[in-house]
Formats: sequence, C-alpha cells, structure tokens
Amino acid sequence: MHAIETHQLTKAFGALTAVHPLDIHVKKGEVFGLLGPNGAGKTTTISMLVTLLSPSGGTAKVNGFDVQTQPDLVRQSIGIVFQDESIDDELTAWENLDMHGRLYGMPWELRKKRIEEVLKLVGLQPRQDDVLKTYSGGMIRRLEIARGLMHHPNVLFLDEPTLGLDPQTRRHIWTYIRKLNRDEGVTVILTTHYMEEADFLCDRIAIMDQGKIVALDTPKKLKERDATLHVASGKIDELYQALSAMNPVRQNGKILIETSQPQRSLKRVLSIAEKRKLALTEIDVKKPTLEDIFVELTGHSIRDEKAGTSDRFKAYNRAMTGRRK
Ligand SMILES: Nc1ncnc2c1ncn2[C@@H]1O[C@H](COP(=O)(O)OP(=O)(O)OP(=O)(O)O)[C@@H](O)[C@H]1O
Ligand SMILES: [Mg+2]
Repeated sequence: MHAIETHQLTKAFGALTAVHPLDIHVKKGEVFGLLGPNGAGKTTTISMLVTLLSPSGGTAKVNGFDVQTQPDLVRQSIGIVFQDESIDDELTAWENLDMHGRLYGMPWELRKKRIEEVLKLVGLQPRQDDVLKTYSGGMIRRLEIARGLMHHPNVLFLDEPTLGLDPQTRRHIWTYIRKLNRDEGVTVILTTHYMEEADFLCDRIAIMDQGKIVALDTPKKLKERDATLHVASGKIDELYQALSAMNPVRQNGKILIETSQPQRSLKRVLSIAEKRKLALTEIDVKKPTLEDIFVELTGHSIRDEKAGTSDRFKAYNRAMTGRRK
C-alpha cells in the first residue's frame, strides 16, 4: 500500500482548472515535494489530500483511506502544517500542544509523554513554558511542526514550511524535517518554491506548473541532464570556427557547448585550442541546477509569478480546525 495514491485527481474553480488530472503514488517513508511557482496548484492538491477541498473528479487515497468516502479516517491518520496563525500566542508551547492532544482525545499520560517527545524532536524543550508571544517566527514554525506530529500521524503535510524564514532558520527546519522522517518514519509531503529546499529534503520531486506535473523524479535524476562547457578566448571568432564540429553556441562573448560527456569534451576543446594556438581565457563545466531544469520544462523562471495565494488557506485551515473540535 502507498502512503498516497491519486487517480485522475482534478480540481476546477469555475472555468479555471487548478489541478489537471493527477496520478501520483507516494511511497511510505518518502519525503515527496511539490515544487512550483505561485498558482501552480500545490496547495489545491494537498488541500484535496487532507480533505479540506473536495475534488472535482478522480480519486485519492491517503493511508489507504478514501478522501471522499472516509474523510475522518484520513484526518486521524495525518498531520497538517499549513500557513496559518491558528496557534494561540497567549499560551505556552506546552499548553498549545496539550490543547491539540485533547482535540484528538489523547489521554493525559499519553499526551504528557508525547508532548515531551515532540518538543525534544524540534528542540523546543528549553522554551516549553514560555508564552508564544516571546517566540521567533522560526520557533513558531517548529512548534507547528511539533503540533502536526502530536497524534503520531503516518503522513505529515507541510505547505511551504519555511516561507518567509531567514536562511539559517530554514536550515534548522530542514534538519528537523529530516530527523522526524528518519526517527519517526513519517511520510512527508511538502510544497515549496525553493529549489534548494526541494533538492535538500526530497526523495522525489514533482515539478508543477499551471496545474500539471511537468516532471517527477529524484533530484539526482532530474539534474542528470547534459552539462554545458563555457569557453572564452581573445580570438573568439577563430575558436568558434575551430570548435564547429561540437555544435557550439555563442552567448555573451562566450562559446557554450552542450555535452553528455563533460570530461571528454573538455579534453577535446583543450587539444583543439592547443593545436590552433588559441589561448583560452576561460573554460568551465556547468552542471544544470533544478532552476535550469524548471526553465527548460516550463519556459519560464520559478520567480516570474506574482503574489501568493496562501491567505485563502488560512480560512480553510480555520474551517478545518473548527471541524476537528
Ligand atoms: N478557492 C479558490 N477559488 C478560486 N480559485 C482558486 C481557489 N483556490 C485556488 N484557486 C486558484 O487555483 C490556482 C492554484 O492555486 P494554489 O493555491 O493551489 O497554487 P499554489 O501552487 O499553492 O500557489 P502558491 O505558491 O502561491 O501557494 C490559482 O490560479 C488560484 O488562484
Ligand atoms: Mg500554496
């Protein structure tokens, strides 16, 4: 059984198809990323999986439970960390977690044990009795993650877990996500705009654009594209002629050569240059980044898009928390 299985899962808002028929299978224990720009359909996809939105078509199973016919079983088996401010900042970390445990009907002994475990996991034990008003943004996010884990979910959904955090805090959150995946065996589904985040955390990444998955693979495989040699010389015209058999392209005063065998091509360029007595001012091999792959697949950069859509989901999350009570 997969942790998540969708079959032709679709969501339309009126004339807009936010998620085109989607088939994904997420293995148990995997960290699976949905990477895409604003409006790609990431939050809509996971909102359907966590039963906050009902699909317009298709089916989805989470932990073997159908999101449409068994929503309560789905919710009991998952943890959700969405962008929201539903944490009470007049209460301490301990009190917030205790409240969450009560919502899930956890008995006192179990609650106490679990609060200690999850606080330890996200490194907040030393601050457990401080009210959240005194916490930084990164600490709040860690507490939200801890809260999502309280009831031992098999699958944890994280919508943009590090949005708006500074690079150092982001690194910390990454460490905790890795740790909980490893120590607790939790399957993690996360959405992100950040290439480095997807690259660092995810076993597999689905690149989403305009409601469609345009690529799905391990970060390593996604980046296994041809490398590019960058070559420059004072005699650029002659060099370009000399390298003509290697399909060179001229760009910004340089010559670019795509190659699946960078080392071999490098040797070849050096030997041609030597033979023709053309001094090189630069020679460099550039491997593609996930950003390059994204541009190649979608024709635009991930940072092109404008403002986010996450505000609406604060409302969804409130509704969800309401329903849980
Ligand atoms: N409740 C809604 N009503 C109408 N349109 C919606 C609704 N929710 C989402 N959309 C639209 O669906 C598309 C996908 O939105 P979604 O929030 O899933 O994108 P996203 O990938 O999560 O983006 P972001 O990175 O900004 O969070 C967008 O065009 C959005 O405007
Ligand atoms: Mg979103």
